[in-house]
Amino acid sequence: MTKRKRLLSLGAILLSFSLVMAGCGTKDEGSKTGTAGEDGKITKLVVGTDATYAPMEYMDEKGNIIGIDVDIVNAIAEAAGIEVEYKNYGWEPLFPAVKDGLVDFAVSSITITPDRQKEFDFTNPYFEANQLILVPEDSDVTSFQDLKDKKVAVQINTTGHIVTGELLGKTSSQIVAAETMPIAILEMINGNADAAVGDNAVIIDYQKNNPNVKVKLIEDSSFEKEYYGLMLKKGNTEVMDLLNKGIKIIKENGKLKEITGFDVE
Ligand code: ARG
Repeated sequence: MTKRKRLLSLGAILLSFSLVMAGCGTKDEGSKTGTAGEDGKITKLVVGTDATYAPMEYMDEKGNIIGIDVDIVNAIAEAAGIEVEYKNYGWEPLFPAVKDGLVDFAVSSITITPDRQKEFDFTNPYFEANQLILVPEDSDVTSFQDLKDKKVAVQINTTGHIVTGELLGKTSSQIVAAETMPIAILEMINGNADAAVGDNAVIIDYQKNNPNVKVKLIEDSSFEKEYYGLMLKKGNTEVMDLLNKGIKIIKENGKLKEITGFDVE
C-alpha cells in the first residue's frame, strides 16, 4: 500500500466511524435531543420548563432550576435509570419547544386538559391541584362568582386563564393576562387587578413568603380538580414508556408521596 492509499483508507475508516457515532445520538425520531447509549437505549433526556413558578419550578440565586417538580422529575429519572438536563424556556415558548423537539419533554405543573391532549401526549398524572383566588385582605370577594364584575389577573394560557375566561368571556378586557404568575400577582398587588387566579401551590407559596403583603386566599368548590402530567411530543412512545415506568415506580415505593406530601392515584 502506498502512503497515499493508506491515508485514504484511514480516512474512510474514520468517516464510517463518525457516521456510526452520529447515528447513535439521533437514532430514534421521537427523542432528537435525547442521548442514547451504545445499545441504543436512552441514557439522558433534555427537559424544558418555565422556572418562574415557585415552589414547583424556579431558580435559586445561582440560577439552578429547582423545585418540587424538579425533585419529582429527578426521582422519575433515577427510577427509570436515565439522566436529565433542565432548560428554562418560559411558559408560552415551552409548548413549541416540545413540539419542535428542542426538548424531550416538559415539566411545568402542566395540567392535563383535553385541548392540550389534541396536540401533545401526557404521562400518567403525578400531582393533583386546583385553582385558588388571591385578593387584597380588605376585598369583599368571597367566591369565584364574585369576580364577575372585577378585573382578574392570570398567567396567560394557563388553566387559571381558561376558567377565568369562562366566567368573564374569553377575550374580556377584564382579564389581565401576564406572562408569568409572579407578574399576575404583582398586577393585583399594584391595584391593576382585583384578584389573581392560579394554581393552589403557587398562590399559597406566595402568601407564605410575603407575610408583609396583606392578601387572603379564597377557595371555591366550583374549581375542578386538575392533574399535572409531563408533556411530550405526540407519538414519542419510547420516552413516554420510560417516564411512565419511572412514575409507576415512585408512586409504588412512596418516593412521590415523600416529595409532595400526598398520593395521586
Ligand atoms: N397548571 C396550570 C396549567 O397547566 C398552570 C401551569 C403554569 N406553570 C408554570 N410553570 N408557569 O395551565
